[in-house]
Amino acid sequence: MHDVPLLGVGVNRHDTTPGASRKVGREVPGDGESHEGKKNRGAARRRGRHARRRTCRRAVLGWCPVTQASRDWWRDAVIYQVYIRSFADGNGDGEGDIAGLRERLPYVRDLGIDALWINPWYPSPLNDGGYDVADFRDIDPRFGDLVQAKSLLDEAHGLGLKVLLDIVPNHSSWDHRWFREALAAGPGSPERARYIFRDGRGPDGALPPNNWRSVFGGLAWERVTEPDGTPGQWYFHIFDVSQPDFDWENPEVRAEFLDILRFWFDLGVDGFRIDVAHGMVKNMAGPDLPYDESGLLDRPSIADHPFFDRDGVHDIYRGWREVADSYDPPRLYVAEAWVEPAERLARYLRDDELHSAFNFGYLKSAWTAADLRRSIDDSVSTLASVGAPATWVLENHDVERVVTRYGRDVTAAGTGHAGKAKGPVDVELGTRRARAAALLMLALPGGAYVYQGQELGLPEVLDLPEGSLQDPVWERSGHTERGRDGCRVPLPWSVSGSSYGFGSGGAWLPQPAGWGELSVEAEDGDPASMLSLYRDGLRLRRSIPSVEPLTWIDETADDVVAFQRGRGFACVVNLGATPSTLPAHREVILASGPLDADGRLPTDTAVWLAV
Ligand code: NOJ
Repeated sequence: MHDVPLLGVGVNRHDTTPGASRKVGREVPGDGESHEGKKNRGAARRRGRHARRRTCRRAVLGWCPVTQASRDWWRDAVIYQVYIRSFADGNGDGEGDIAGLRERLPYVRDLGIDALWINPWYPSPLNDGGYDVADFRDIDPRFGDLVQAKSLLDEAHGLGLKVLLDIVPNHSSWDHRWFREALAAGPGSPERARYIFRDGRGPDGALPPNNWRSVFGGLAWERVTEPDGTPGQWYFHIFDVSQPDFDWENPEVRAEFLDILRFWFDLGVDGFRIDVAHGMVKNMAGPDLPYDESGLLDRPSIADHPFFDRDGVHDIYRGWREVADSYDPPRLYVAEAWVEPAERLARYLRDDELHSAFNFGYLKSAWTAADLRRSIDDSVSTLASVGAPATWVLENHDVERVVTRYGRDVTAAGTGHAGKAKGPVDVELGTRRARAAALLMLALPGGAYVYQGQELGLPEVLDLPEGSLQDPVWERSGHTERGRDGCRVPLPWSVSGSSYGFGSGGAWLPQPAGWGELSVEAEDGDPASMLSLYRDGLRLRRSIPSVEPLTWIDETADDVVAFQRGRGFACVVNLGATPSTLPAHREVILASGPLDADGRLPTDTAVWLAV
């Protein structure tokens, strides 16, 4: 093997071959590089929103200190997703909580991320993992209370970390006070008008108002029993039956959410991830939909969808933006919007709407050079048209872990739910690819998301006992889709001990044997571990000049993804079947695996180069 370090900088050199040349290709427009964006960009510049925040005057990759202007911190931030129920259990009840998170904040800080995004922690029956909120202004006692939440915010801020929460505006839990009032008040009441109630079809209203289906399977309508005991109206729920949709035509609903935003911003929260940001506004008079029986979770891809990505949603976000901008520093919004094509997503990121969005197009890309390049080009240039940065996502609590997905024959992700089995998994192959994917993601311009456990290389737990499955998808699919629990198994913190250090009282989902080998304790200090790779990648990423757009290096083979950021930094990923010769470079800064004896880049390996 060639003597190149997997990790670390400037230890060993892989010098440029004398006379080697580098051909740098077309530049992908970065922030404000493109045509249509000029107008937006001008406006944004005037307001100073696009101030470049990493100003490094020293030589490229000269490891200069990073200066962050707080208003724009999010444009190339790495945000760590905390699925609180599975992160760390401080009170020993088997479920993660604020106390556990507070204890582990130094771990998170030492990873080198900029912010946390915490999944819903509100009071909830947890029918959908907390995305069924019973009170938007409180904390579920299983997770803690508002006093602890405030302490968490203060401690995180003290460590230089921002904190984003998750807001769920499309629906509430059926345990929410408003929904209970709606049931009690009966048809035609103002209480019912906060949700979407309709009379059924047929002479006695026994048929649902239309054929629309829930994303989790089954009908999107549920019939209620009226206060007098008779079968009554139907209410609409895109997700589980326990998650009734709000009626966003109702000004009371709009006002309520503006107030909820202010409540948390006043407490010190730095921003929100918006759940189903492409939902909320509906055309309830829309027609029946053509469903494909083969894909339960695949929603029909039709123009003018009656409940996703409707133009009216943008008015809501203009109002939300005003609230965020009324704070100093301004608060942030990140959209969870499964919207395609990228041009549609860009509409959410116009200057007076949301700041950023998860790049699910990238998450869904197959592990092939062509797919990744296409997705990168598409994302960067389309979002630049509205002056928004791209973001890069490989995992979250809804999709199959990347180590598992990339270890399959089919590497492209499905619709956003981990459900379908796609054949055997080669975890070693998946891990090698996930390592390379991590370096690729962290080298791209814009922001990135890391889902808890991704930094440990956790695989999807595919063999959870059926009796332990909690995702509503399992029941609603008639036990044909196992759902998303496999990526939500509580984290292993130690090699052994009760629930591998997750907490003293077991874990709410069973952890597989061997989980301890992937624990923080096992990987800490091991230079070959996924954890070390992430730590090094996150640390070194701070020296990639963020002002520099991505420029493809065209000299490499078609199945190699290679690009520069400015004149000093390059990232090369080999997705081909044979080793690839590296472009001319001064030094290998970081590699996801060893180079071969001739200094070539093996299959499924990535390197960062000083060039
Ligand atoms: C998206 C969330 O990420 C997912 O976990 C949840 O089930 C749905 N929205 C419904 O809130």
